[in-house]
Amino acid sequence: MKITFADAAKVDIVAFIVDEGDGLPAGAASLDAASGGLLTEALTGARFDGKKDQQALIVLPKGSDSRRAVLIGGGKPTKRDARILESIGANLVKSHAKSGFKSLAVHVGSAEDAARVALGAKLAAYRFDTYLTKQKADQKPSLTSVTVVVDDAKAAKAAFVPLDAAAEGTMLARDLVNLPPNDLYPASFAAKLKDLSEFGVEVEILGEMEMAKLGMNALLGVGQGSRKESQLGIMKWNGGKPGEDPVILVGKGVCFDTGGISLKPGPGMEDMRGDMGGAAAVTGAMRALAARKAKVNVVGLVGLVENMPDGDAIRPGDILTSASGQTIEVQNTDAEGRLVLCDVLWYAQEHFKPKAMVDLATLTGAIVMALGHHHAGMFTGSDDLADELSKAGMTEGERVWRLPMGPEYDSLLKSKFADMRNIGGRAAGSITAAQFLKRFVKDGVKWAHLDIAGVAWVEGEKAALDVSWASGFGPRLLDRWIAENYED
Ligand code: BES
Ligand code: ZN
Ligand code: ZN
Repeated sequence: MKITFADAAKVDIVAFIVDEGDGLPAGAASLDAASGGLLTEALTGARFDGKKDQQALIVLPKGSDSRRAVLIGGGKPTKRDARILESIGANLVKSHAKSGFKSLAVHVGSAEDAARVALGAKLAAYRFDTYLTKQKADQKPSLTSVTVVVDDAKAAKAAFVPLDAAAEGTMLARDLVNLPPNDLYPASFAAKLKDLSEFGVEVEILGEMEMAKLGMNALLGVGQGSRKESQLGIMKWNGGKPGEDPVILVGKGVCFDTGGISLKPGPGMEDMRGDMGGAAAVTGAMRALAARKAKVNVVGLVGLVENMPDGDAIRPGDILTSASGQTIEVQNTDAEGRLVLCDVLWYAQEHFKPKAMVDLATLTGAIVMALGHHHAGMFTGSDDLADELSKAGMTEGERVWRLPMGPEYDSLLKSKFADMRNIGGRAAGSITAAQFLKRFVKDGVKWAHLDIAGVAWVEGEKAALDVSWASGFGPRLLDRWIAENYED
């Protein structure tokens, strides 16, 4: 979708935002007059009264500049936040994508608002249809351009630059999560990381031999039942001062999670193609940061593995020695994400001095029970970091909700045979998973864990921006968090 900003546009479909309970906006007056009052008629003749998500479609007379006019409800102006503006852009694209028309314009008041509407339009135009070979012409989108008409088009364009970069990151994360596990496996994921060098990201990939040298036996244990080689992806964005300590992002990249020998039930297992959602979020964030040339040093680390049952797979009862030297009794091979993350977190702290470190992982089913699909779970000992992430999440509509941690939960990880076991029992499953990770975070490191199992993908279209199974959760939150707290 081509998104542009202009102070006027000649397009197939022209849209105006109507305030709830109000008349036509000033910008619509001339078209209304030229069409003999058809727009006013649409306001008075039916139930349209400007409530959010309402639309009225007007067929314009022959010879008009446009073929259709649309009135779209903006709700009460006092309540018009970023989410509503995004959903205006998104709903316009979704409603008219397959209309047969090619170009749409929407009139928006301020430059900031225009950028948000554009973001919604861009994210809603996302499609994952590469595997659909039988799509008929009328099932494919016809709309190819959206123009946001705004007085100060230059300011709107500037305001859109960082949002556009973040949207590219979101769409990359969506692609990665949507891809099927036969095509997206550790090595092919790693190859996609390499593509980021085009944006100036330095990418390094470690294979199993290199990780074995580093003693990353917990991560390697998860991958040992798979024919696919495990990988560690290291992405560096050096946009800050040379030598300045980086912000570190860590992602769980289980390209497919069968559960291993502790095999998952069959129904729904296909969703575990998305168990690399954390790694996708980190990759998308790196892309966003690089695309907008963020003035900060950031390292993104993704642990890429496939969790398969096999004659060589790890067994319940196996004891793994992690890179940190701590031993782990594997009681459930399906609690594999933490085994991957513990070695990647350790690698991060051995090789860098994190200013702050955030990991993202589709870690537990329990977080879906606790928070459903509208907040990611957040675990951290730092009130400051909790605050920073909560605020960034609110700004971008990728919300996080803090849950507690503490020694009582940590003690549930006791093992008779090793330093810890990899599950904590039935109670507080998301918290014990976070406690497990905390054992691999050195004292004084400002760290948070985000459990994104409930938000990485969505079943059905619930919100305006849900246009594919993969939500692309993460890049916008991380990019905003870094922009507001770690950039000069
Ligand atoms: N990848 C799953 C968690 C998950 C579940 C993500 C549902 C998204 C949707 C993870 O590896 C897992 O299987 N966790 C187990 C942990 C348990 C064995 C302690 C779980 O949540 O059941
Ligand atoms: Zn699992
Ligand atoms: Zn998993």
